[in-house]
Amino acid sequence: MRKLSKTHLIGSPDLTLEDLNLIFSNAREFKENHSPRVKYGYLKDLPIMLVFSEPSTRTKLSFEIAATRLGADVLIFDSTTSSQSKGESFLDTLKTLESMGVAMFVVRHSLESIPKLLQENLNAPVINSGNGSKDHPTQGLLDAFVLQEKIGDLKGKRITIVGDLLNSRVARSNLVILERLGMEIAICCPDNMNLPYNNSHNLTHYENIDEALLHSDIIMLLRIQKERMAPAFDIGLDDYRKDFSMTTKRFENNKNILVMHPGPVNYGLELDAELYEKENCLISQQVSSGVFVRMAVLKLLGENIKKR
Ligand code: NCD
Repeated sequence: MRKLSKTHLIGSPDLTLEDLNLIFSNAREFKENHSPRVKYGYLKDLPIMLVFSEPSTRTKLSFEIAATRLGADVLIFDSTTSSQSKGESFLDTLKTLESMGVAMFVVRHSLESIPKLLQENLNAPVINSGNGSKDHPTQGLLDAFVLQEKIGDLKGKRITIVGDLLNSRVARSNLVILERLGMEIAICCPDNMNLPYNNSHNLTHYENIDEALLHSDIIMLLRIQKERMAPAFDIGLDDYRKDFSMTTKRFENNKNILVMHPGPVNYGLELDAELYEKENCLISQQVSSGVFVRMAVLKLLGENIKKR
């Protein structure tokens, strides 16, 4: 039986092509056998803790559903009422929880360094579900999975990532994972939302979404992350909509384009609300596939625990 090359899921760059394919084939199996009543025993009675110290709806709930479907005992850690507020460090808190028997941690934290620190200090597998603006591996995985389900082999397919790249861990994860799968990736954003290390990635940069649409099979929109911007930051909403928004008109004029967005969406800014229902808009598939991909990751990391 094939297994994941890692015992934790910390960063997208850690995933080999074999790891990606293994995760996708497991996710596909879960998807094909899906029924709301089917429960598996892969993680039966294993205590898995979700530790989210940044807001989350989709990711947290989809991990919760995924772990429950695999038979785990899912525990939710409420960081606002924990003794961290008395000064105990995040690592100490998780070590305490590990001593109480928690067997796996799913962690979101605003500090980029947290997942690595946990990996180095905990035996229980850690799944990074978002560390600051740096990485969000399961989002990159589910985006790639959705695209494969929709169009098959991704090699040579052209995707443009549009929007607030500066603050986006989703963009950074996708750059790594989609590139590993052979996609041609470009970006499109206002100058003040560009990646700081843009050049090292050698990415094509389109000035506006109309230019991007001419050269893309897929447009991946990103949320404008106001909460990560300095209060004085001027988004320039009217200009943004003019140059970077997926409007109904643009969508209708590009019949074959596929549109993605990790959510939550600022409707009317990144995307017109009525497009959500369209067949070529993959947002609801991103949400539903997130469960299957997270089931695959949890199952595979669970298999690595048993072998230790
Ligand atoms: C993203 C995140 O939290 O990084 N959302 C998600 O996981 N579905 C993107 C975002 O917040 O804009």
